[in-house]
Amino acid sequence: MEIFRVDNISRRFQSAMGDVWALKEVSFKVTKGSITGIVGKSGAGKSTLLRCLNGLETPDTGHLYFEDQALDAYAPSELRQVRQKIGMIFQHFNLLRRRTALENVSLGLEFMGLSQQECHRRALEALRLVGIDHKKDAYPGELSGGQAQRVAIARALACKPHVLLCDEATSALDPETTQEILSLLSDLNHTLGLTIVLITHEMAIVRDLCTHVVVMDHGSVIEEGRVETVFQAPAHEVTAALVQHLFNARVPRVISRRLTDTPRPTTTQALYRLLFTGASAKEAVVAELMREQHIPLNIAGGTLDPLGDSLCGTLIVTVPYDTSVIERTKEYLTSKQVHATFLGYLSDD
Ligand SMILES: Nc1ncnc2c1ncn2[C@@H]1O[C@H](COP(=O)(O)OP(=O)(O)OP(=O)(O)O)[C@@H](O)[C@H]1O
Ligand SMILES: [Mg+2]
Repeated sequence: MEIFRVDNISRRFQSAMGDVWALKEVSFKVTKGSITGIVGKSGAGKSTLLRCLNGLETPDTGHLYFEDQALDAYAPSELRQVRQKIGMIFQHFNLLRRRTALENVSLGLEFMGLSQQECHRRALEALRLVGIDHKKDAYPGELSGGQAQRVAIARALACKPHVLLCDEATSALDPETTQEILSLLSDLNHTLGLTIVLITHEMAIVRDLCTHVVVMDHGSVIEEGRVETVFQAPAHEVTAALVQHLFNARVPRVISRRLTDTPRPTTTQALYRLLFTGASAKEAVVAELMREQHIPLNIAGGTLDPLGDSLCGTLIVTVPYDTSVIERTKEYLTSKQVHATFLGYLSDD
């Protein structure tokens, strides 16, 4: 089932500088149970899109469907109920400073007309679910960033949403806390079947967490699909630029200072970057090259990370400087669909 269907929506803002089309004819779908990453440069329209998804913003044209129902067909009172199924968390948590963690979480429930006792019971349950119930009486100012974001997630979960929208939810957190919040989101996706749509500037987050990705540029969706498909073969140069650093392992400095463009009398090795994507990444290509072809490759650096059910990344390898060895290596790699880029010659001096 589709949680969201975005059908050709546009959103224009009027400003002193003239009109800005924050969204231009945007279309895509979010399937139930997926984790969708929305990426793109600053000003691309990501937050505007997310605000349209939860009804904070109304598109000027086009239609938005939540669980197969057009959002613009609801009366305002009905829309409030629908919006309870769409949770949202933000970069700066947006907690009320004068309310405790428990009160922050129960506030949304009070609007649903539940008794205070029931609100507190469900709020505590939500705090427990995200592992922050021991801080139920703390005020936001007494919480770390990670703890505050857990409270914000609990607040969203207390209304039992079908989807959680996250606008740069980890941008204000240190790397370790970011990982904790991301694995919490992943757990919620697995255990509750919670659909998640998140905005991030970190492609590694999309690679590690998301099933689908939507790439935005200047208000338009320029590419979208399953993460492994889009990341392995970006169709658009903006996407290619965004994911490039995920694939391009750096050549270690101890090696790069010894690189030359032309061979020298003392050259012993040639340096290559091997790009692994899709099927090629599943096979032990480098091990087989050494075992079957008896070519002694050396791995000088690299990044290989899980992507979907395979791996993606690059390895920097040295190959003995010998024309026939290099030819055999290239032939073998081509047969295994591993793309090799020549980086230079390495000398012993
Ligand atoms: N309320 C508003 N009034 C006028 N212009 C707006 C408004 N909200 C957004 N915009 C403009 O719409 C465009 C898209 O903004 P948006 O906040 O959606 O971008 P974003 O992709 O979330 O950027 P960032 O990564 O910096 O958060 C920008 O040019 C922005 O200036
Ligand atoms: Mg934004």
